[in-house]
Order: sequence, then structure tokens, then C-alpha cells
Amino acid sequence: MTMTVLITGASSGFGLMLANRLHTQGFNVIGTSRNPEKYTGKVPFKLLRLDIDDDASIKALPDELFRHVKQLDVLVNNAGYMVTGLAEETPLDVARKQFETNFWGTVKVTNSILPHFRRQRSGKIITVSSIVALIGPPNLSFYSASKHAVEGYFKSLRFELNPFNIKVSMVEPVWFKTNLGANAVKAASGTISDYDTYRRKADAETKKGIDDAESPDAVVKKIAELIAAKDPKFSNPVGKMTGMFLFLQNYAPRMFEGSILKSVANAA
Ligand SMILES: NC(=O)c1ccc[n+]([C@@H]2O[C@H](COP(=O)([O-])OP(=O)(O)OC[C@H]3O[C@@H](n4cnc5c(N)ncnc54)[C@H](OP(=O)(O)O)[C@@H]3O)[C@@H](O)[C@H]2O)c1
Repeated sequence: MTMTVLITGASSGFGLMLANRLHTQGFNVIGTSRNPEKYTGKVPFKLLRLDIDDDASIKALPDELFRHVKQLDVLVNNAGYMVTGLAEETPLDVARKQFETNFWGTVKVTNSILPHFRRQRSGKIITVSSIVALIGPPNLSFYSASKHAVEGYFKSLRFELNPFNIKVSMVEPVWFKTNLGANAVKAASGTISDYDTYRRKADAETKKGIDDAESPDAVVKKIAELIAAKDPKFSNPVGKMTGMFLFLQNYAPRMFEGSILKSVANAA
């Protein structure tokens, strides 16, 4: 039977690439965007309107979804964005908004689909988290915190869903070339002059990460593997440096911290 996959944030980046790949492979793909009309005739799969910051939009999702499909097999929580900037200079409303989308939006979308998965006693939830959910680099504190929150939420939830045969997996990418950098919200900077030198270096280091990013194929391939897997792993870091980051953090934490301090200190 054809599998049906719902992908939030399928207008760009990982979501768009994954949706195209699965559609080509014969999956029944339903994507979402805040502005689906912008993509009419440009994508081969169905795009529903969804703003994960908007409760009414999320409430309407299941009815809208099941108008188009009879059942759902996989939810890919992918929609999200990144706030960059130093923690103390980030206005709290900007930080709260980051959580509203990346954490609460993901939780609310998941809650809107769970009754269906519980009823059918099966389902798979794959959430695009980030390597910054597992490590905490400077200049990304609220993005990192929002992804840590998502990771912690699903770490617990997966046990509660086990009796219903609902599998939960996270994908934790490093830097990959999508529109994440272009769509990032840069928190106000320059409000605390003590940080002037550090901020310049930290911004340069963040920019380097975005500029040197890998091709997104590896992330899309990993999500496709998780969709196909009978018993997918919970945590799935993706990217050339992930193994080394996590090894150092766990087994040589002083060396790991030193390398982060040094990378910012040496930035242009
Ligand atoms: N690229 C990386 O290096 C990287 C690394 C780690 C994790 N990630 C994560 O990967 C996920 C996808 O990002 P990407 O890198 O592919 O970036 P992207 O190219 O900017 O795509 C982001 C997608 O999210 C959707 N979106 C954003 N805010 C939304 C909202 N409030 N409601 C509904 N949809 C929203 C956008 O759709 P519309 O604008 O059409 O609504 C878009 O399709 C994000 O969760 C991001 O944090 C990315």
C-alpha cells in the first residue's frame, strides 16, 4: 500500500528536497507552507496551508489533511527557523517567538496528529532537530535552547507512544545548505558594548558555518532511511563533524570546550 507522509515546511530546504524525493519514489506526499499559493504549479505534491505559530491553522490541519488522504503513516516535523545573536543582547520577545515556532509549534502539530496515530495503532514521527540540540555553540543560544527543548520533549514522549506502536526519531543535522541562513532572524546587536569584539568574532564564526555548509542530500537520505526502517533509532546526528563533536563532548569535554573557545577567538 502507498505510504502517506506529511512534511511541515515543504516549500524550501530539507522539506522541499525530501518531498520531491519521496514523491518521485511513489509516496503520497502532503507538504505544508504558510503561503502554499506561492508554489502553485511549482511542486509536484499537494501543499496545505499551515502556520505552526497559529493555533487556528494547526486546529484546521487534521480536517484539511484527511480531506485529501484516508490515512497517514509518517509525520515529518521539519518547519522551523533560526535566531542568531548573543544571548544577553537577544530581546525576550525574539527569544519567545523562537520557542513558539520551533518548540510549541512542533508540539502542537504533533498533538494534532497523535489521535489519528493512536486510533490506527501505528505511525512514525520524525522531527528535524539540530546538532545544537546536543551541543551548545555560542551565538545560537535561543535556537539551541529551542532545539534542546524539542529533543527533551520527544525523548520522553517516545516511551508514552510505545504502547501504540508509534515510533519517534530525531534527525540532528550540522550545517547544510538550505535557506536557513537567509531566513535567520538576527537578534539586535550592539546594545552591550562589552561584547563588541566577541560579537564580531562570533558572528564571523556563525557565518563561516553557514557559508561552508554541506549539501542537504545526506539529511534527506537519512530521513528517507528512517521512514523505511522498521525500528528506527531515536537520535540521528548527520554531518561530517557530528561524530567528532559528540565524541569530544562526551569523552574529552575540556578539549571540546577549548576547541569552541578557540574557534571564536581565532575568527576574523
Ligand atoms: N540547514 C541547516 O543547516 C539545519 C541544521 C540543523 C537543523 N535544521 C532545521 O531544519 C529544519 C528545516 O530548515 P531548512 O534548513 O530546510 O530551512 P529553510 O530552507 O529556511 O526551510 C524552512 C521551512 O520551514 C517553514 N517554516 C518556517 N517557519 C514556519 C512557521 N512558523 N510555520 C510553518 N512553516 C514554517 C518554511 O515554510 P514557509 O516559509 O513556506 O511557511 C520552510 O519550508 C528547521 O527545523 C531547521 O531548524 C537546519
